[in-house]
Amino acid sequence: MRAPRSRFYDGLLYGRLMDPLLAGLHGFVAEQVDAGMTVLDVGCGTGDLAFRMASDAREVVGVELSPKMVAFANQRLTRQPQENLSFVLGDITTALADVADHHFDIATMVMMVHEMPADARGPVMREAARVAKKVLCVDFRVPMPWSITGVRNRFFEAIAGPEHFSAYRDFTRRGGIAAIADSAELGYAHIRYIDSATLEVAEIRGSANVSERLSSLASMSSVGDQVS
Ligand SMILES: C[S@@+](CC[C@H](N)C(=O)[O-])C[C@H]1O[C@@H](n2cnc3c(N)ncnc32)[C@H](O)[C@@H]1O
Repeated sequence: MRAPRSRFYDGLLYGRLMDPLLAGLHGFVAEQVDAGMTVLDVGCGTGDLAFRMASDAREVVGVELSPKMVAFANQRLTRQPQENLSFVLGDITTALADVADHHFDIATMVMMVHEMPADARGPVMREAARVAKKVLCVDFRVPMPWSITGVRNRFFEAIAGPEHFSAYRDFTRRGGIAAIADSAELGYAHIRYIDSATLEVAEIRGSANVSERLSSLASMSSVGDQVS
């Protein structure tokens, strides 16, 4: 379990700089959530994605380790009240201990796995797959192309600080979402590449059952490659 902690860019800076850059991605992920679903947004950051999903979902809960991120999200909630949306401060591996298996229809994990310490990734993915029927995971493609978008993404990883960059490099060395899901003994299905093919969208499930993977692939809605 990790104790709550904030980084220098959490809260206001992330909200001003990263949320606008991630607007297309967050819009894309929100479109994958059907109306009326119950949703868990793991590592919800400033809550930008959670707000988008809450306009159609039955319930959205954002869980976040950073007090500055949660404070920012809650300030926005005060300005824009949304009864079906709430934010929980804590480590997902312990914060949802009282939540029943498969309580949520879907969990989203967006740009989160690459920045976690190596030993935290498996437990975090497993807990998301326990409390939700399926997990939609979006993170860097491995290997990431050396296109303009790929260079831009690496630049942002480098300026986020040495700890963040070393976690990203470790994520890359280990083989990205697929390899991490595999070592956590979770089911994995590649959905598609987006954002000029620099990001991977994948589905993670608690079971590695192959037929489950295929049926889930078939049920995903079709979207374009470009996320701006
Ligand atoms: C790069 S940010 C992405 C935020 C958001 N998903 C987005 O798309 O903007 C990843 C977030 O995951 C949070 N996080 C990392 N490990 C966590 C954990 N074990 N439980 C809850 N949140 C966690 C971090 O504090 C960070 O704010």
